[in-house]
Order: sequence, then C-alpha cells, then structure tokens
Amino acid sequence: MEKKIFSGVQPTGNLHLGNYLGAIKNFVELNNDNNNSCIFCVVDLHAITVNQDPKELKDNIRETVATFIASGIDPKKSIIFNQSQVSAHSEAAWILSCTARMGWLNRMTQFKEKAGKDKEKASIGLYSYPVLMAADILLYDSTHVPVGDDQKQHLELCRDIAQKFNSDFKAMDFFKIPEPLIKKEFSRIMSLKDGTKKMSKSEMSDLSRINLTDNDDQIINKIKKAKSDSLPMPSSLEELSSRPEVKNLIGIYASISDLDFEKSLNEFSGKNISEFKEKLSEILVDKIKPISNDIKKLLNEKSYLDKILLDGRSKANDIATKKIEKIHEIVGF
Ligand code: AMP
Ligand code: TRP
Repeated sequence: MEKKIFSGVQPTGNLHLGNYLGAIKNFVELNNDNNNSCIFCVVDLHAITVNQDPKELKDNIRETVATFIASGIDPKKSIIFNQSQVSAHSEAAWILSCTARMGWLNRMTQFKEKAGKDKEKASIGLYSYPVLMAADILLYDSTHVPVGDDQKQHLELCRDIAQKFNSDFKAMDFFKIPEPLIKKEFSRIMSLKDGTKKMSKSEMSDLSRINLTDNDDQIINKIKKAKSDSLPMPSSLEELSSRPEVKNLIGIYASISDLDFEKSLNEFSGKNISEFKEKLSEILVDKIKPISNDIKKLLNEKSYLDKILLDGRSKANDIATKKIEKIHEIVGF
C-alpha cells in the first residue's frame, strides 16, 4: 500500500538539532523511499498562535523551506507548501472544532506548558491549535505522520476527532485514521543546559541548542559548554537515570550516527567525558556543516524558494479542495 506521509513544521526560526533528529531526518528517509507520497507543510497558521513579527515570519517561512531542501528533501518528489496559502486548512479546522470536545482539548499538555500560569491571557488559537493540526493531517488522507515525541498527544487527538466525525456523520472510513511515526529511541532531544527540558526554539539561551545554521566553532563551543559532570562515561543504562545530560548527549551521538543507543554507550564506557565530547563535536560538525552551508546559500535564492512554495500550493490546494467539498456534502452545507 502506498503510504501518504504528512508533517508540519512551524516557521518560528532557529530550527535546531531536536527538529532535525526528531522530525526532519525522518522526513528525508521517508521522502527517499519511492513507495511514499510525501507532503511537508510550513505551518504558519500555527506559528501565529503566539506573537510573531510579520517581517520575521516571512523570512522564517523561507528559512524553513531552505532547511527542508538543505537537509535532503527533494522538492520534485514531495509537496512542500505553506499552510496559510491553502484556505481549506482554516475551514476544516472550524468544522472539526465542532467535532472536537472541550474535555479532550483540556487534557493537552502542550497548551498547559505554552500558556504557562496565566491561561486567561493565552490566545484561543493556542488552545485550539491541535484541531488545526488534525485538519492539516485529515485533509490529505494521510496514513503516516512523522513527528517528535512531543506531538504524540496531538496525534492521538487527531485520531479521536477523525473517528468521532466518521461515526457522527455515519461516514465510515471518510477520514483515514493516521499512524504517528515516532522514533523509538531518542525522539525527544533535550536542552544542552538542562537534561530534563526539551531542546526548544524559544529557550532564551542559544547555548541550550544547536541550530542548523550554526558554524563549526559554534557547534564545538556549545558541546564543550554543554552541561555534564566530571565522572567517567557511564557503563550501564541504570547509571544514566541520574545523569540526564550525559544520557542526552549519548542519545544525540547515537541518533546522528544512526547507531544503536547501547552500542554508543559501550563505545565510550569508562572514558573521559571530554574525549566523548570531542568525538561528538566532530560528528556533529560533519553532519550539520553541509546543511548549514546549504541553508545559507539557499536563503540567497528567494525566487527559487518562492517557486517551490507556489508549486506546492497548487498541488496541495487541488487535494485539499476536493476533500473540503466532500466535507461540505457530509455536513449538509
Ligand atoms: P516545531 O518546531 O514545534 O514545529 O516542531 C517541528 C518538529 O520537530 C515536530 O515534529 C516536533 O515534534 C519536532 N521537535 C521539536 N523539538 C524537538 C525536540 N527537542 N526533540 C525531538 N523532536 C522535536
Ligand atoms: N504541531 C506541530 C509541532 O509543533 C506542527 C504541525 C502542525 C504538524 N500541523 C501538523 C505536525 C501536522 C504534523 C502534522 O511540531
């Protein structure tokens, strides 16, 4: 069976190693498999659920496309488009918000984290964000959705919405029930400064993450300064439970080198942390440098990036328009 892959990335700048290892690296592998059809969406409607500077948003949209291409996604083999340019997304999100239940959304941990203490001041968009995400996925009859571990709960909500819509309107199999594709090992890359916190674009300290646009010196410096301890490298999984930062660094090493976690653990067991960090920097520079260079080059080719988005828009719009027309029929519009 042909797999229909769909995923989204917010154009909020600072795409980092977590985005790469948790999601984009997977996109590239799926895109290279000819049995898949892939759609990658730059989700600008999601981005504006928190304040964005309009000029920066426009630049970040292009930078996200540049990052996809620089990481190895072939725009000829996939559809890359901008969410706001296909109006069916907003429309489907409204209709599905009438299917989704308050109780379901109230359980979303990402909203709780992002809204912080003062929930009254959070935007309504931030609250209904997962419903828009469900619309993105369901409009394209997506079968598989590659994401990082933090999006698992949103995917479950999407499945619940699809099932309830199909059952409420007695439209068996109308929405396909998508499967999440989440890496078993290391699907959540943590901050370099705190092994209990996710690596994130919005973290104040730039030392907490490796950006995909970082140069060699920045990468080496960030790994050198990454929080760790002065003990020798651990030799068992149990030892790692009290050393989250070291665990994260080994996870990054295994993930970027496509190695098994335990093998990587054994490779360095008993060695000095500084020796491990040196090896880690080396491999990170090796893998990130070509991506970083290509992003910078592509950012000078605005019309090429815009053309990709324009082509993608037309293809995505054809698919989404057909689906939203059927939704209209089913709902009784
Ligand atoms: P976002 O930048 O929030 O749109 O995320 C884009 C993709 O990267 C999603 O699939 C996320 O799950 C994934 N992602 C973001 N941060 C991390 C992280 N620290 N570790 C693993 N995956 C992540
Ligand atoms: N919410 C996702 C994130 O922040 C981005 C996203 C929006 C998405 N729509 C999607 C991911 C559809 C997968 C499928 O990471």
